[in-house]
Amino acid sequence: MRPSLLILLASAAVPRSLGQSLSLRAAAAAQRHARHQPGGGHPPDERVTAVLNTFKRPDMLRRAVEHYTQCDVVDAVRVVWTEGGTPPATDGWRIGGAAGVDGAPRVQFDVLPDSLNSRFTPLPALRTRAIFAVDDDVEASCDDLALALEAWRNAERTLVGFYPRLHVWRRGRLQYHSWWYVWWHGEYSIVLTKAALLHKDYLEAYTRQMPQPVRDYVDRHMNCEDVAMQFLVANVSGRPPLFVRSSLGDLGVVGGISTRGGHMVERSDCLNDIHALFAGSDAAVVTARAKREVPLVASHLVVGRAGSWLSNQPATWYEFLASDLPIPIPAQIVLALLLAAALLRLVYECCCGSLRLGPPRKASSSAAASWMPVRQSSPEEWCSDPASLLPASGAVRLHVS
Ligand SMILES: *[C@@H]1O[C@H](CO)[C@@H](O)[C@H](O)[C@H]1NC(C)=O
Repeated sequence: MRPSLLILLASAAVPRSLGQSLSLRAAAAAQRHARHQPGGGHPPDERVTAVLNTFKRPDMLRRAVEHYTQCDVVDAVRVVWTEGGTPPATDGWRIGGAAGVDGAPRVQFDVLPDSLNSRFTPLPALRTRAIFAVDDDVEASCDDLALALEAWRNAERTLVGFYPRLHVWRRGRLQYHSWWYVWWHGEYSIVLTKAALLHKDYLEAYTRQMPQPVRDYVDRHMNCEDVAMQFLVANVSGRPPLFVRSSLGDLGVVGGISTRGGHMVERSDCLNDIHALFAGSDAAVVTARAKREVPLVASHLVVGRAGSWLSNQPATWYEFLASDLPIPIPAQIVLALLLAAALLRLVYECCCGSLRLGPPRKASSSAAASWMPVRQSSPEEWCSDPASLLPASGAVRLHVS
């Protein structure tokens, strides 16, 4: 299956168990409001809080803080500070944007225990529902972040991010797969929280509702908090994550954790272990495990930018003609140009190999040859024998004289 480009249309996520705090009507009102402000100012509630994870990389941290404070959609940057000691002073840093209306700081350090679980600690005084969990070495452009936030608004109960991964059952075990596998199968079931949007309620759920053995596992292995979060979100929402096409600066790839040998084995192990721990001893879930069910849900969707010239093409060629052009060219002229192109092509064919219509030439009787796909050929070959490129059957054929 090829990866297909689908633009996600509004499909408000229906909350299953976390829904109480989210009023769907309020969300709809917010969306109406957003529609009236195309690309305009962002009230605090339509922005996102960047929750930045860092560990003993002061330069990387400063760079990330300076970058994310430049984004209009970012309400505040919260740095998860787990290094101990005193967080650095940000005097002299190039902090963008103004402080919040109520004087809330643009950048704030939250001192937390040294654990990967700390990155999902519910933070006090959050002013947005949307959280952008991001590592200090990942730089999403403000535009990509705004696009992801737009997608998240249509699916607030799921994880929306930039790094898709896939789980697969193989010989009774879960296997973890990355980009090539995702691309080949056109499917993903995990997005990594090293750059993902999620509802702030999931911080609460991770900290209070997630089975303690899962959090202990994350502490022991210093890995896989992202898989744990994906399990939780999928289990609560019953929904797949959402992958947003983007082009990120990832400064952590070389020498980072994901380029280490054995990384895939480690990640597959953690899929299996977290699956077992997440289920606990709940009888229903143990049965589900026997049936090879995981809460993870696969998706084929890719959210893309409608303004992208590279990846967008209309569903039919007719769209080109039937559509309103951004510049005022009458449809007749477009039609005339297309006709002229077709005419030119015909003239070209006639000049480099004279063609005439005639009765079918005796075709080879091989059944396999009754229809041949048009093959690639050079223009010279094309001119010397155009008929060779056509299907070998049909009432009317082109013949080379
Ligand atoms: C997963 O979903 C089931 C069924 O809705 C629920 O009983 C269970 O508590 C959930 N687990 C977690 C950790 O949220």
